[in-house]
Amino acid sequence: MSAASATLLKSSPIIDKFEWVKGQSLRQGSATFVQRHSTSPSALTVRASSYADELVKTAKTIASPGRGILAMDESNATCGKRLDSIGLENTEANRQAYRTLLVSAPGLGNYISGAILFEETLYQSTTEGKKMVDVLVEQNIVPGIKVDKGLVPLPGSNNESWCQGLDGLSSRTAAYYQQGARFAKWRTVVSIPNGPSALAVKEAAWGLARYAAISQDSGLVPIVEPEILLDGDHGIDRTFEVAQKVWAEVFFYLAENNVLFEGILLKPSMVTPGAECKDKATPQQVADYTLKLLHRRIPPAVPGIMFLSGGQSEVEATLNLNAMNQSPNPWHVSFSYARALQNTCLKTWGGRPENVKAAQDTLLVRAKANSLAQLGKYTGEGESEEAKKGMFVKGYVY
Ligand code: 13P
Repeated sequence: MSAASATLLKSSPIIDKFEWVKGQSLRQGSATFVQRHSTSPSALTVRASSYADELVKTAKTIASPGRGILAMDESNATCGKRLDSIGLENTEANRQAYRTLLVSAPGLGNYISGAILFEETLYQSTTEGKKMVDVLVEQNIVPGIKVDKGLVPLPGSNNESWCQGLDGLSSRTAAYYQQGARFAKWRTVVSIPNGPSALAVKEAAWGLARYAAISQDSGLVPIVEPEILLDGDHGIDRTFEVAQKVWAEVFFYLAENNVLFEGILLKPSMVTPGAECKDKATPQQVADYTLKLLHRRIPPAVPGIMFLSGGQSEVEATLNLNAMNQSPNPWHVSFSYARALQNTCLKTWGGRPENVKAAQDTLLVRAKANSLAQLGKYTGEGESEEAKKGMFVKGYVY
């Protein structure tokens, strides 16, 4: 194991963890109440939860001023679509070349605090033979891992979906931690045109909460992502109404599963009109609605809100984030973009080794723009036409 991974792993309280899971436990803040099966309820003992301090520290590091997350965890199928758009075959070597370009962009860690990886990348080396994870750690970027197993149809619903991946999750999260991951992502979706049905919302919320508890148990900070899809012709008020319902339910089940709020990060969709709505919203309107939603539903104990871009153009996603940071918020309000960070970069690269530097420069331009937006200081000047193009795809799967 390399020096960088070894330093990351030093704080791993593995032995404590095994003791801890033997009893029934209820977490509160950084403490754990352990009730042994053999004792009476009055014999509750309080002890520090094994990973609580580390989870809080990791979440705070990711939610640090002027920084956000690079989502580069496209599944092999989705990555294939991206590569296809620039005329490249979906081979492991091409995925490796592209991801090497991303993680080794010089100075990326000035703007990016965490990078979400697909499992292949977590165990992969760069084209120069260095572990991707080590390159990230050297850049001062926390490695994260997508742990959900994707969406499938939800029987009994209105053509909605649910997210798979809970079976065997605790062994996977333990292995990912050993490999250097310190946070996780689980993306489930809610569709407005298809309802959403009460069943789909409940299933999404429950799945996220179970995943969050399991991830924390393995030392990974869970990113809680109920994506409310942009699909539809509904207005912004309808999105707001659905988002209120979804987040109420998500926090109900997070609390029921004893998830430590200080050790999670959220990845919401911004509150916008549906992609096919004729009324477009200004960044100010998006910010007003989204902040109203967050204030009503998100406890201040949560350290960071890291938005997804969801098909907005690169510039739109940055302008909206900037509008949300014009006055102080109880949480770090930042980004966890995939398309809105990578789009111009991918096109600039085009699979050609001679374009690697230019592509890295465009990634850094976007990362810096969003870093400024996190600080409320983005002006939008000098943006390319490419960066202004929307990327909405109907029925998008990640
Ligand atoms: P987009 O920013 O492209 O929506 O992707 C973010 C993400 O990670 C979705 O899970």
